[in-house]
Amino acid sequence: MSAELKTITVIGAGGKMGMRISANFQKSHYQVFYCENSPQAQQQVSAQGRELSSADSVVPLSDVVILAVPDIVLGQVSEAIVPMMKPGAILLTLDPAAAYAGLIAIKEGIEYAVAHPCHPSVFLQRYTKEEHADAFGGVAAPQHVAASFEHGDEKQKAALGKVISCMYGPVEQVHWVTVKQLAYLEPTLVETVACMVGAFMKEALDETVKHCGVPKEAAEAMLYGHIQIALAVAFRATNPFSDACMIAMEYGREKIIKPDWKVIYQQKELDTVIARMLKIDQLKR
Ligand SMILES: NC(=O)c1ccc[n+]([C@@H]2O[C@H](COP(=O)([O-])OP(=O)(O)OC[C@H]3O[C@@H](n4cnc5c(N)ncnc54)[C@H](O)[C@@H]3O)[C@@H](O)[C@H]2O)c1
Repeated sequence: MSAELKTITVIGAGGKMGMRISANFQKSHYQVFYCENSPQAQQQVSAQGRELSSADSVVPLSDVVILAVPDIVLGQVSEAIVPMMKPGAILLTLDPAAAYAGLIAIKEGIEYAVAHPCHPSVFLQRYTKEEHADAFGGVAAPQHVAASFEHGDEKQKAALGKVISCMYGPVEQVHWVTVKQLAYLEPTLVETVACMVGAFMKEALDETVKHCGVPKEAAEAMLYGHIQIALAVAFRATNPFSDACMIAMEYGREKIIKPDWKVIYQQKELDTVIARMLKIDQLKR
């Protein structure tokens, strides 16, 4: 089995992630084929000067096949794509949910990988306008990636790391974890907790304006600055929270957080949230 990965197919090349990763591949030395089945999304691919291919003509040639399609159709799309893949090729998905749920079609001789962008850190030192504008990553601001490749060899893993670093670039580091660990990172850590808290802070901002008549600009200024300092103190211990702040924080925890919140780390809870996200009754694994 060759560890060199030269030929890549992107399935779903006209979707949100497909367009992002294709833009980076287009500037690379890889030979990349772009497949997309929605006419509107096909136009987006063509508008960027990328030629469309049919999956059945390019998948059998590819060292890596990337499924950039919605998670709820990954099982069905993989059933069509995996049988066409050549021995030793890698099927790469961009989110762990379907792989964790056992929905991805399995074929002897095919390797399986998942790679999810971490997005640029809130603590990243940004120097240029382009870095400041790149909230998502993949354009100018460096980010890390969390990825899994549990059964391939080390040479293949190194070559896959280069593909992943290209498609999500600029990338500082690829962190290799298991599919299950990746599922605990996303959804559990970053969606169930971090995105929920982010949306909750927006709800609290709106409630503050509505409930007490504080001017919106004042509430925004106060909150945005305090989000910055709260993260710096909690994660970087730049200086301690004040004694009074810690009392208010304890009160908030009592009123808002359930004492048993760590149940979200139980496997049956992870299974429940992933089944909900994939709109299935239960996982296949
Ligand atoms: N959107 C994000 O912010 C984000 C971030 C990280 C990871 N992801 C992951 O990336 C993957 C894709 O998500 P997305 O948000 O880009 O989806 P999307 O809905 O924006 O795009 C999916 C594209 O796939 C196309 N498609 C569907 N079935 C196809 C098929 N059989 N052949 C060819 N094309 C097909 C659709 O027409 C569409 O253009 C998912 O696994 C998602 O979890 C998304």
